[in-house]
Amino acid sequence: MGRIIIKTPEQIDGIRKSSRLAAQTLDHAGQFVAVGVSTEFIDNKIEEFILANNAIPATKGYHGFPKSSCISPNNIICHGIPSKNTILKEGDILNIDVTTILDGYYGDTSRMFTVGNISDEAENLIDTAWDCLDLAIEQVKPGNHFGNIGFVISRLAKGKGYSVVYEFCGHGVGIDFHEEPQVDHTSRRNTGPVMKAGMIFTIEPMINQGKPKADVDETDGWTVRTVDNKLSAQFEHTILVTQTGYEVLTDVHQDYEIT
Ligand code: MF3
Ligand code: CO
Ligand code: CO
Repeated sequence: MGRIIIKTPEQIDGIRKSSRLAAQTLDHAGQFVAVGVSTEFIDNKIEEFILANNAIPATKGYHGFPKSSCISPNNIICHGIPSKNTILKEGDILNIDVTTILDGYYGDTSRMFTVGNISDEAENLIDTAWDCLDLAIEQVKPGNHFGNIGFVISRLAKGKGYSVVYEFCGHGVGIDFHEEPQVDHTSRRNTGPVMKAGMIFTIEPMINQGKPKADVDETDGWTVRTVDNKLSAQFEHTILVTQTGYEVLTDVHQDYEIT
């Protein structure tokens, strides 16, 4: 597996800036999440913000994807296409996923947002998805196997009675949108390639209330839904392997210390 790029200090700096902008874009998007708002409106605000910061939304035109973000409510696992017909309502949960290209460098991050009061079931699912990402980030250090990321995610999610989507994965990122390696969220302990300082990749577990299987919409070719229409939740960060651990490049809230 020699195709995992080890980034140079200059590249790391560029990817750090783009990642930071992607995270700030999610902060900006959050203020528009409300009852009665269309996901297309939020996408327009996202595009405006990214362009105003001299960057480009990576998803627009990516293999024909039409919008500047993916917005995935409720039973949509990922790759939801923002639409004027998708109007947010009380109790909805949604993932907003933004990837920026700044000075040629990619930063990729997503979070869950909520509309008004949500059910306890929805809240528990969101909390677990966050805890899964959090726990997985602790696995990032030189010498550790990528498989341990998916191992800790699966163990935690299944322990809470949830399932983990296995058909969509995290990925190397920075010089390109999707680089090697594929970062599985359901892998076995001590399998897969070994992490080295200078690698940058995403971890983006999708956690389902019901079955893990994903169903791609045949009409639009993008929207990925749960097969049983139960809820799905996801968080994503772009992470750098440092000499001794990790730096979460898409963390603007200082949730993580650099290790
Ligand atoms: N940002 C998504 C990811 O985390 C990819 C979206 S690709 C798109 O990898 F084409 F659906 F936008
Ligand atoms: Co990603
Ligand atoms: Co993403």
